[in-house]
Formats: sequence, structure tokens, C-alpha cells
Amino acid sequence: MSKYLWWQKGVIYQIYPRSFMDADGDGVGDLRGITARLDHLQQLGVDAIWLSPIYPSPMNDFGYDVADYTAIHPMFGTMADFDRLIEGARARGVRVLLDLVANHTSDEHPWFKESRSSRASLKRDWYVWREPAPDGGPPNNWLSEFGGSAWEWDVKTRQYYLHTFHRTQPDLNWRTPDVQETMLDVMRFWFDRGVAGFRVDVMWHLIKDEQFRNNPLNPDYDGSHPYRRLIPLYQEDRPEVADVIAMMRAVADEYDDRVLLGEIYLPLERLLAYYGRDGRGAHLPSNFQLVTTPWSARQLADVIDAYERALPRGSWPNWVLSNHDVPRIASRIGPEQARVAAMLLLTLRGTPNLYYGDEIGMTDVAIPEECMQDPKARSMPGFGLGRDGSRTPMQWTAGPHAGFTSGEPWLPLADDFARVNVEVQSGVDGSMLTLHQRLLALRRSEPALCTGSYAPVPATGDVLAYLREAEGRRFLVALNLGGARATLTAPALGLVGEVVESTHPRRRRRAVDGAVELDPNEGVVVLLA
Ligand code: NOJ
Repeated sequence: MSKYLWWQKGVIYQIYPRSFMDADGDGVGDLRGITARLDHLQQLGVDAIWLSPIYPSPMNDFGYDVADYTAIHPMFGTMADFDRLIEGARARGVRVLLDLVANHTSDEHPWFKESRSSRASLKRDWYVWREPAPDGGPPNNWLSEFGGSAWEWDVKTRQYYLHTFHRTQPDLNWRTPDVQETMLDVMRFWFDRGVAGFRVDVMWHLIKDEQFRNNPLNPDYDGSHPYRRLIPLYQEDRPEVADVIAMMRAVADEYDDRVLLGEIYLPLERLLAYYGRDGRGAHLPSNFQLVTTPWSARQLADVIDAYERALPRGSWPNWVLSNHDVPRIASRIGPEQARVAAMLLLTLRGTPNLYYGDEIGMTDVAIPEECMQDPKARSMPGFGLGRDGSRTPMQWTAGPHAGFTSGEPWLPLADDFARVNVEVQSGVDGSMLTLHQRLLALRRSEPALCTGSYAPVPATGDVLAYLREAEGRRFLVALNLGGARATLTAPALGLVGEVVESTHPRRRRRAVDGAVELDPNEGVVVLLA
């Protein structure tokens, strides 16, 4: 296994800092809180944590609107707290990744304030400013991901600025060399402090059409999200984005062992382009296919196989089940299938991204749209796009506020926290937490499950199956995605072995001889003889 890098062998755990652990009692999580909970991460067995933004920010988009890239928001703590977190994590074999919000800043960032101060500003071209259309309206038809036009009129300087997201998140102009150099120095600043890598926010958005051409209408628009009314042809996934990523990659390569994850929501063939050529792309373009594909064995099998087949030579897979932008896995497919999903995530070939709270089976909290804090919900009411539900406080104990805070939590806690929490599930065979710990330990101890080869196993109905193999050890993973009993036979494989792990703990250590019998909602890992 030694030829593999830490991030190929490892599991990356996403922390949404506002909601992980609050040490100072203001109801919002912080860095000292994360440090206090490092033992949990070590016991869980993850290799790295990625922190959603912790920088100073007016918090219009909860930190994805950055007002200073090289400082810590006082709400999260100080730079000394950050250094202590890095040290504490390192002592436990856990690396720390940050979120690089490179597409846009906050409108309160001094760069933007300077840029909007006058057309003659030296930072005018740090952002995307355009003249109005002849009728005085926006320069073109581009839409914002958060609803409405992507252009905002600036009364003082009488031009429009581009904001792909909220109007308080003006897009940086990555064609400007000073922007490039400054942002690359931001990366160096954090690498020098010991950061192991970045998750690059909306990587596929970073550069826009130089001619600002209008986007075509989307003939297949289904009414689900106003942004999809147009095909964002000229607004995202532009060829020049590869140059920007190459610059970022070159900076990562100035250091040992750093990793770049790229947040990219694109169809497979375009996603794969982000691995880049000749080591000039992202190490891990985020693969959201487990989020976007219906939970059906046949559809998932197709998607996994297609991805495995299409991966460029030398590239490494990535798998994501949940994050802070989508409903949690346990809410999407129910608590029983969430166990099967954990087994899938942690036994596929590639680097898994595990979202905080999924390891205990947290579900989304139903927050009425009118009470949501998420700017996406507030700017596009009626579409059900709010994200607060999957960002609620981590459930540590059955005590007040689930042990998350001694104050008033910024988002409501789930009703089930007395049952669904770390303390109650610790050491309990059969709990979701124990299942995760066992799967992570198995993965760590078995090269076959960590970096071994992947091969699909033909299956029917609700069963999804595949083989993982390395160093002479061969494992079959068989997952029953349905609520009825199922049998997997694979004459070509013989199927003789022992169940070393099951989502149903009492069914571990059973022998397999010729066929794998699966209970409803059961997933197994079988060591083949
Ligand atoms: C993607 C982030 O994951 C999301 O939370 C944020 O709203 C947008 N980028 C804008 O930064």
C-alpha cells in the first residue's frame, strides 16, 4: 500500500464548523470546539477533516462570503486556536483541509470595497464589471444560482457587477494576474501553517466567457430550480478554467503531500476533465453521483461501473454521500438503507467524503422555509431549496442541546437527539457509529478494501455487488438495497468464504457457500476463500 498517498488511502470527514461543537457558549460552533472533539474523529478512524469556511465573513452565506482569506472569524476563534487545532489533529494522525472560496468574495471584502469605489480603482478589474445593455438592463441574460439575474447594478459607478451566487458575493475576475497571484499566495499562507489541502469551492465556475455571450434557453427545464431555465454554457465549465486549476495545482505541488479537492457538479465526461492533463488538474474532482443517482441497485451499479471505466489513467476516484448543500443520506433513503450506504461509501475504490453526523445517522431537521436562514431559501422561496436542514448541530449526548452548546443553538436540534448521539451509540454493537468505526478499521487493515482493485459482480433486482482485491485477498461486497430478502449467486466466482462485516451485526461470521443470502436492507463484506 505504500505506493499510495495518504489521501488515496484516507477518508476525509467534512465539518461544518458552525454546527460541530461550540466551546464558548454563543450557540455557534468554533475551533476550540472542534479541537475538544478530536478524540471522536480519531476513534472514528478518519484521516483528514475538511472545514467549511472559518474566515472572517458577514455570514450572508455562512462563511462562503469571505471578507479576509488569511484570518479567522472571531466567532470561530483566533489564529492561535487554529494552530492548536492543527497540532492536536496532527498528534492524532488527522490532517486538516480548508475550504478555498476562490470564485467570489464577500461584498464587504476590502478588495471589493476598493473595486466598487470608482471606475478608476486599481482593483476595478479584480471583479467582473460590465456596462449595462442598451436598454439599461443587465449586460446579458446570465442567472444567479441563488435566483434572479447574476448582475447587480452599482448606483455609484453606473456599471453592473457579476455575482454567480448571492448579490453580496461578487465574482472575482480570475483573468486578472493580480487576482491570480494574490489567491495563490492565500494558498501558500495556509500551506505554510500546515494545512494539508483545500476543497476548492465551485471549481467549475471559476472563469467565465470572455465575450459574455448570452446563455441559450434550456428546452428541458423542469421548473425545479430557476437557474436551470438557461443552459449555463457561457457561464461555467469554460475551457480556460483548466489554466486556473493548473496554477492552483502548481502551488500545491510546491509542498509535499497536499491535496486539492474540486467541488464540481457536472456530468461524468466533463467531471473527468478536471483531473487535468499531466498532473495539472485537481487530485480529486468531487464525484457526487451517489448524491444525484436514484437509490436503485441497477442505476447505482451502472453509475459506479461507468465511472470506474472512464477514469483517466493515473487518476484516483472520489465518492460523496452527503454534504452541507444537500439533504442528508439518512433523510434521502431512510435509516436502514443509510447503513447500507455507509458500507457502500467505505468499501468502494476511492477516497470517501464522510459528512459530520452521518456517522451517527443524523437526519435533516424539518425547518419551515420562512424560518430558514439559508440565503438560497430566502432568495428563491417556493422551490424547497433551503439547506438549513442538513446543517443542524452535531448530536453528542442526550443532555441539553445534545451537548453541542451551553447557549442557544443557531439552528434547531433534531428531535431524536436523545437516541441519535455519539455518547449513546459509543461502544454499542449494532449502532450506526460502531458500524462506521468497524468499516473504517476494516478498510484501514485490508489493502484490498482500501486501495485494491474494483470489479463489478453481475447481480439482479435490488442487489449491488462488487469485488475488491489486493495482495492475494479478495472481498465481495454485496448490498441489498431493497426491503425484501435477496440472494446473490455468482457461479463464475464460486462464492465460498465468510461474512466479515454485516450491517446486521448478528449476521457476522456466517459462512458463505455458493450463494450470499441477504436479509432485507442488509449489506455484507465477505472474505472469499
Ligand atoms: C458551494 C458551497 O458548498 C455552498 O454552500 C455555497 O453556497 C456556494 N458554493 C457558494 O459559495
